[in-house]
Amino acid sequence: MFVIKNITMIYNMDKSEKVYALGGFDLTLPDSGLIGIIGPSGSGKSTLMYCLSTLKKPTEGQIVYNGKELTALSDHEREDLRRNEFGFVFQRHFLVPYMSALDNVVVAAAEYSGKMVEKAKGLLEGFGLGEKEYHKRPAQLSGGQRQRTAIARAMINDPKVLFADEPTAALDHDNAFAVMDVLKDYAGTKLVLVITHDRSILKQADRVIEMWDGNLGGERNGDVI
Ligand SMILES: Nc1ncnc2c1ncn2[C@@H]1O[C@H](COP(=O)(O)OP(=O)(O)OP(=O)(O)O)[C@@H](O)[C@H]1O
Ligand SMILES: [Mg+2]
Repeated sequence: MFVIKNITMIYNMDKSEKVYALGGFDLTLPDSGLIGIIGPSGSGKSTLMYCLSTLKKPTEGQIVYNGKELTALSDHEREDLRRNEFGFVFQRHFLVPYMSALDNVVVAAAEYSGKMVEKAKGLLEGFGLGEKEYHKRPAQLSGGQRQRTAIARAMINDPKVLFADEPTAALDHDNAFAVMDVLKDYAGTKLVLVITHDRSILKQADRVIEMWDGNLGGERNGDVI
């Protein structure tokens, strides 16, 4: 669970052209559920996600994650947290081009073992990639298959929080919905945060957070059209 207080992010602090990316708001996020973050370009969505996932440090404010104040952690502690508890999916899949789909998933496992290979196969299979696809390289897969492989990779260590920044932006609608189904399933027991410009993929969201110019706008529960 995240308890966020007065989160503020100012880029270019040392320059005359300061950018106020997060305007000092409070937010609490639960342990599980699919949370959508929507808002115009430049409204601070990615910045918020980077701060929550410890990739960036806010200029001011507190982010308490399961009792830990994230801004007080050392670099090493933050790396540990990212490795052990967080998973990441981005707009581009960032798969290793010369590795098979299966190896791309297995390589992210905390430890290499036969059990992990089986787990990776299970994840891929659950996302509609069968034996036929395991040994294909990313370039030999469709865009949707590549992105589902990237999600399998992000899930291999059972992260407690899955951060997805525009995971469906490069996909057609059918593939986007297939990816959202996978994320919704995972959100049954874990927290999944999804940034998007596309409201239609958030139909299954438990909550939608709207961002506007570095602040929170209207919030609705579920009934997103
Ligand atoms: N590293 C940076 N240095 C300076 N300004 C930045 C930096 N990263 C982001 N910004 C600025 O901060 C603001 C918020 O950016 P952010 O990337 O969080 O927006 P976003 O909502 O994710 O936008 P998009 O939908 O286009 O991805 C924007 O004005 C952006 O130009
Ligand atoms: Mg962004």
